[in-house]
Amino acid sequence: MLRVEGIDLSYGASRCLRGVSIEANPGQVTCVLGRNGVGKSSLMRAIVGLERIQGGRILWEGRDVAGLAPADRARAGIGYVPQGREIFPFLTVQENLETALAAAPRGSKVPEEVFALFPILRQFLRRRGGDLSGGQQQQLAIARALTARPRLLILDEPTEGIQPSVIKDIARVIRLLAREKNFAVVLVEQYYEFARELADRIAVMVRGEVALGGAMAELEDEAVRRLLTV
Ligand SMILES: Nc1ncnc2c1ncn2[C@@H]1O[C@H](COP(=O)(O)OP(=O)(O)OP(=O)(O)O)[C@@H](O)[C@H]1O
Ligand SMILES: [Mg+2]
Repeated sequence: MLRVEGIDLSYGASRCLRGVSIEANPGQVTCVLGRNGVGKSSLMRAIVGLERIQGGRILWEGRDVAGLAPADRARAGIGYVPQGREIFPFLTVQENLETALAAAPRGSKVPEEVFALFPILRQFLRRRGGDLSGGQQQQLAIARALTARPRLLILDEPTEGIQPSVIKDIARVIRLLAREKNFAVVLVEQYYEFARELADRIAVMVRGEVALGGAMAELEDEAVRRLLTV
């Protein structure tokens, strides 16, 4: 499981995260909610090692990974789908997927399961990433993260700017990964409606802090909504 304990992060003199704690368990979806600029992406970047924290601990499967480089966290089973997808537009779909094998043992291949989840990608293997639709690019970004065979999957606003039919498909995949493949999933969302369908736990952030968090079943809808409108 993932336990983020009281982490602090500043950009220069400006404090971005103050004592933030969240957890994510295998087989479950933890949703991180909050309005623009509250620190959701910074929190995800800290977990995967792209930002250095100034305090707190990041425990993954019992080990503090806060001192590890991003590639070592990836090797430890932490998968990441960044906000805005960040696929390589001039590489083909196949090549985009293979970038995730850089840290894998030699001779590793893109797992067949990836194509079972996103059949469209097999069809488009030779197409350039930049020629895919936004929704297909998002599927590619998730598929790329899965190619490294993680046990924790972090998705930063995967539904941003995506059409409803693809959003449904992404929700189906997230549910399947957690329920059937026992992934721990951390999902960043702005939209509570999407989050509440999937979430087992939620953490609502306000200005760099978790203002409300816990098991979905124990939280009041109204309290969550209030924090998302302030
Ligand atoms: N590299 C950086 N240097 C300085 N400030 C930053 C940097 N990255 C983010 N910030 C600031 O930190 C705060 C939190 O940003 P962050 O991107 O984590 O928010 P967010 O909740 O993901 O927002 P959004 O919903 O728009 O994606 C914002 O005020 C942002 O301007
Ligand atoms: Mg963000």
